[in-house]
Amino acid sequence: MSVLEGKVGLVTGSSRGIGAATAKLFAHHGAKVVVHGRDEPALAGVRIEIERAGGKAMGAVADITVFAEIEAMRRKIEQEFGPIDILVANAGGSYTLPGPLEQISEDGWHASVNGNLTATFLTIKSILPGMKERKSGSIITISSAAGRTPHPQAPIPYAAAKAGIQILTQVVAAQVGPFGIRANCVAPETILTEGNKQRIPAAQLPALVDRHPVKRLGTPEDVAQAALFLASEEAVWITGIVLDVAGGAVML
Ligand SMILES: NC(=O)c1ccc[n+]([C@@H]2O[C@H](COP(=O)([O-])OP(=O)(O)OC[C@H]3O[C@@H](n4cnc5c(N)ncnc54)[C@H](OP(=O)(O)O)[C@@H]3O)[C@@H](O)[C@H]2O)c1
Repeated sequence: MSVLEGKVGLVTGSSRGIGAATAKLFAHHGAKVVVHGRDEPALAGVRIEIERAGGKAMGAVADITVFAEIEAMRRKIEQEFGPIDILVANAGGSYTLPGPLEQISEDGWHASVNGNLTATFLTIKSILPGMKERKSGSIITISSAAGRTPHPQAPIPYAAAKAGIQILTQVVAAQVGPFGIRANCVAPETILTEGNKQRIPAAQLPALVDRHPVKRLGTPEDVAQAALFLASEEAVWITGIVLDVAGGAVML
């Protein structure tokens, strides 16, 4: 039997990047997967790819900074697929450029904190009550190497929001363990998503690669494999961890 057979998994931000790879891997391992985002053509593309490969998927659109939209999505998922067993709160990103703190705008600060920390809080707030009722579930949040160790080039609001996600996850893990629910966090280093392939100048790649004891950058699939393990029953006694998926560039 596949490791996620019979499970319903919601992967937020799975219209592209790490989330799309995670949704595809979960479906490959038997889960019914909810492909989520705001870009409907992009998420439909991921859903169709999963279905063509023989998997089960549905699409869901919601702005995860708006609780009412997450709640409406949760109700739709429960109607179509049933209760959510696995939540990967992946949607997020950095909404300011790196640079000195005093040059960061208030709007930039709020965008990164809302789009990462608040969004993760709101998503868990919506999904957790059902998990508690059923006394089972696995929650996986996504931090970043930027939130693990200070680096002068890291965008400060993003780094702070991601560090917040780590302790949020750990306090949730401490609260919900007695309900049979696990909560873990994955912290990727630079991942070669389509977005990063466009963003990172080719001339910078060798120096970036060189920061990693494993001499390459990560792939979306590297992160997806970590999430799969944490979601599976193989990880049944693992909760409250922050798992660095970093090719050795982060060692804490
Ligand atoms: N890539 C990296 O190197 C890296 C490294 C460390 C951590 N991370 C973290 O890993 C996660 C995924 O990163 P990625 O690079 O794969 O991202 P990406 O390619 O930019 O995709 C981001 C995803 O999040 C969704 N999203 C963002 N804000 C949203 C909102 N308010 N409401 C609904 N959906 C929203 C996007 O949906 P739509 O576009 O459809 O709206 C998209 O599906 C993020 O949390 C990121 O911070 C990434």
